[in-house]
Amino acid sequence: MEKWQQISLILCIFGFLKEFRPSEPFIFEFLTGPWHNATIEQVVQDVFPIGTYSYMAQLVVVFLITDYFRYKPLIIVAGLAGTLVWSMFVWCGSSLRALQVLEVFYGTYMAAEIAYWTYIYAKVDRKHYQKVTSHIRSATQAGRFLAATTSQTVIYYGVTDYLGLNYIALGAQLATTVWAFMLPPVPESMYFHRQEPVTDEESDLSPTPKNTANSTCSRASSLLWYHFKSAYTSFTVIRFSLWYSLAVCLYYQITSYVQALWGSIGGRNATLWNGAVEAILTLMGSLVALLAGFVPPSWLQVNTTLLGLAAIAMLEGLGLLVATVTSSLVVSYVGYTVFGILHAFAITLVSSEIAKHISDDSFALIFGVNTMVGLVLQTLLTVAVVDSDGWFALDIRGQFTVYGYGFLGVGVLFTVFLLVELFREKCYRGPSLFQGNKDNIG
Ligand SMILES: *[C@@H]1O[C@H](CO)[C@@H](O)[C@H](O)[C@H]1NC(C)=O
Repeated sequence: MEKWQQISLILCIFGFLKEFRPSEPFIFEFLTGPWHNATIEQVVQDVFPIGTYSYMAQLVVVFLITDYFRYKPLIIVAGLAGTLVWSMFVWCGSSLRALQVLEVFYGTYMAAEIAYWTYIYAKVDRKHYQKVTSHIRSATQAGRFLAATTSQTVIYYGVTDYLGLNYIALGAQLATTVWAFMLPPVPESMYFHRQEPVTDEESDLSPTPKNTANSTCSRASSLLWYHFKSAYTSFTVIRFSLWYSLAVCLYYQITSYVQALWGSIGGRNATLWNGAVEAILTLMGSLVALLAGFVPPSWLQVNTTLLGLAAIAMLEGLGLLVATVTSSLVVSYVGYTVFGILHAFAITLVSSEIAKHISDDSFALIFGVNTMVGLVLQTLLTVAVVDSDGWFALDIRGQFTVYGYGFLGVGVLFTVFLLVELFREKCYRGPSLFQGNKDNIG
């Protein structure tokens, strides 16, 4: 086995274990059950928002620290945070304060994940990036699928209760932490521990690198800025990044709170199929993500892509609104699944379109920044509609109505982009200003 394949395998096993959290499809049932005695309103309005704030606050710091400490320590931190979080789920009892503290560490757990996804770019040769990324994605999806299937099976046959599921998740997080020590350390990193400049432009940034902390930092920051500038002066990258950030923001918000929506539709005594829905969605999502890789390049012209994205956003919005207004749990499951499958397709397409327009070296930075923007939006959204101390503190159906209209809004935005593009083509009768080599408008 070649070295990159070994690394890929180690990363895959880590990703599989980390995503094996069978407690998640029933987290609301668990927190509102006799183990924690919280109400749905408390979980939605007082507990979960803290996770979002904590994640956002830590992401920027973690992104820079990750590079500085060269990935592995942060991947171990992710494992430790996960172990702590699930220990608290299991042992912290009915204290609301304890659940809020748990959410702070959940933010660490989520933020440190970026070290895992950027590790590849520092450790694996760039010609293998794509393969390794897709292997890891498959492994994490497999972990999720198996976790969801396990949770539904276990609950259906009454093998154990929701607390038991949390014990299983805790075990997997412990295993993840131990496994993280197997990862080979990374001698070089993208910004702070860089050996030699890769392109001529980059070598101009700092012609005489000295081995002092000062020059390392100024070199790292000028390279960061260079990557940032070359990506975000392309209108194509900006448009796709906007889609990415908006979609990620709404998607995380929706997946985090959908169980509360189902709880309010189904009531306490409804038979819950959350695990089965999650399993089906993961499976279908992986399939359509694969499909997205087979879309012929000739279909991905500027106009067709914009039209496609506008249509998908509107359909996602409709799916969500149906899932929200219905009084039938099954219809809600179906609406949500349709939404999730469309999201998986679009986000894969958009990610690969962004990747085509930026240099390999800046993948980690650009996707980090896009995720960051998504999280800032998510925080605003949480303050606006979810948090009990926020502006509107809507009930769960109100929140999902906002998210549904949010996607319709994204659809309208991309229709506007399409119209602008058509207008330009008509007026200039030349090739699109915003495509190909004339990409830089800044
Ligand atoms: C939750 O409430 C039930 C019924 O009031 C009680 O028996 C149980 O001990 C409580 N659980 C916790 C963890 O406090």
